[in-house]
Amino acid sequence: MCGIVGYLGKKNTKEILLEGLKELEYRGYDSAGIAVLSDGEFSSFKAVGKLVNLEEKTKEFTTDKFAAGIGHTRWATHGKPTELNAHPHVGASSYVVHNGIIENYAELKKELQNTGVTFLSQTDTEVIVHQFEKNQQDAANSFEAFKKTIGELEGAYAILLVTKAEPDTIFFAKNGSPMLMGINAENEKYFASSDTPLIGQCSDVNYFEDGDYGYVNADEIVIFDKSGNKKEPHFTKLATNKLSAQKDGYRFFMEKEIYEQSTVIADTLLGRLSEDSVILDEIDSSLFEGINEIKLCACGTSYHSALTASYMFERHAKVKTSVEVASEFRYREPIMTKDTLFVVISQSGETADTLETLKMAKAAGLKTLVICNVDNSSMVRIADASILTRAGIEKGVASTKAFATQVVVFWMLSLYLAKRNNTLRAEEIAAQIAVLREVPKSVIVEDAMHERIKRLSKRYLHGHGFFFIGRDLFYPLALEGALKLKEISYLHAEGYPSGEMKHGPIALADPELFTIALLPEHLLYEKSRSNAEELSARDSTICAISPIEFDKADDFIKTKKHSHYMLEFFEMMLVVQLLSLEISVRLGNDVDMPRNLAKSVTVE
Ligand code: F6R
Repeated sequence: MCGIVGYLGKKNTKEILLEGLKELEYRGYDSAGIAVLSDGEFSSFKAVGKLVNLEEKTKEFTTDKFAAGIGHTRWATHGKPTELNAHPHVGASSYVVHNGIIENYAELKKELQNTGVTFLSQTDTEVIVHQFEKNQQDAANSFEAFKKTIGELEGAYAILLVTKAEPDTIFFAKNGSPMLMGINAENEKYFASSDTPLIGQCSDVNYFEDGDYGYVNADEIVIFDKSGNKKEPHFTKLATNKLSAQKDGYRFFMEKEIYEQSTVIADTLLGRLSEDSVILDEIDSSLFEGINEIKLCACGTSYHSALTASYMFERHAKVKTSVEVASEFRYREPIMTKDTLFVVISQSGETADTLETLKMAKAAGLKTLVICNVDNSSMVRIADASILTRAGIEKGVASTKAFATQVVVFWMLSLYLAKRNNTLRAEEIAAQIAVLREVPKSVIVEDAMHERIKRLSKRYLHGHGFFFIGRDLFYPLALEGALKLKEISYLHAEGYPSGEMKHGPIALADPELFTIALLPEHLLYEKSRSNAEELSARDSTICAISPIEFDKADDFIKTKKHSHYMLEFFEMMLVVQLLSLEISVRLGNDVDMPRNLAKSVTVE
């Protein structure tokens, strides 16, 4: 989703902005632009498509003096991905970049148009710069005009604005969309939507709160809170180790991230397991006092991991658990009772719908917990407690290692609760902990397995659809497998509980319907196999994934013999991820940045 960067200082502003935008590329975008104000004059460039196009356009442009620069990668919401709609948006003498959505843009635009303002784009963002310039006419200074403008906006935003009237100043405002500011010993100021562009450039960062606005120049950092009270920045040290952003010889980030799963799962487990219990130092066991129910809320892949949690929480800890898609939960006037622990799951910690459900739960007085991959993200800062998944930066838009670590955290949490609630015998908890320790090994990608999937993938490039089927915990895995395939191959795929096929979907069965059947040995094998046989009998092409030979399969991917179904779960997760990857590669798609998708979905 859209990314913002800003820079105030004497270095090569263009380079800094472009480098910053590159770090945000993984969020997904369809156009990009920068505006730099130096010596009282603006230079602005925009390009549709990838950042190389913007680099090409700015080839001849350099700045080696003090400058104020803003940059943006846009993921279209209002108006097509064209150059005119790309940010920064221009007024008579100011430029603005914005993430989020201005909900009352239509009425503001109408009023502005009635006063003779001409709009160049179809975006909601453009109203900000025109409204600001309108306010500049009556305000005592540009900051007053900016402040008034922010007060007139409704919706979610992270905004940076630069104007000729204050040539060495960047104005900023944040509400509902992430933004932070970084500083260093060279008196430079940086802005970005996440901390990655700032690592290596800044020593300290200030994460803005919702409602914050203000300005920076060479001498000052001025911040006001949502009530208009001046506040001091709250700087914290920024990590210095830029996590490897390179592909390390892999063809795609997604591939690298699939291969990394063994290591990151080991990281996720590190220090959290003893012989007979799960140690989660980051949560206080009082979080669960008075809790009779757990409600999980998330989007996409994170929603699928939440579904796995619902099986484990009920099975291991005997806690009533329900799972909701965040975008649905928000508007259906849900009943929230205080004996419910509200848990949100998010790789990024910024997904707008999930974040809003967290705010709703907080407002209703529920205890809240977030399972997240990004420390200091909005959700981590808002929730009462957090457990970090430690997957490292995930760059591929299609989530892989984040999902794997989320499931591991949920499994640990279910055992933690089982011990607390006395719902599993001590030996059973110890036995599961021993299995948990095996997970990193179960997700090592073996050459033979990858080669086999590569070879098989050529048979699955067409057809009228895929059904991924599984039972119990393998049902959320089937959903996840189908989502992965859809995202990067653009082929139609659905995840289904195996037992549901005969209630309608089996009508689609024919040789061009591909069924990917998850057949673990240790969880409802006979039942799952019967369901796959029913499809085979109706001539669907079956690709079975199982440690047990299945003679009704057209294709068979043999997984290893494991002692526990969860180890089968993780190995099958690898298989469906690799299958999607190889199908996408053969189709010639952009694996890491699939069309229409964004990594961090900060609009609802
Ligand atoms: C799919 C994918 C998305 C995200 C979803 C939620 O591969 O990545 O479905 O899972 O947009 O994102 P987070 O987890 O950041 O809240």
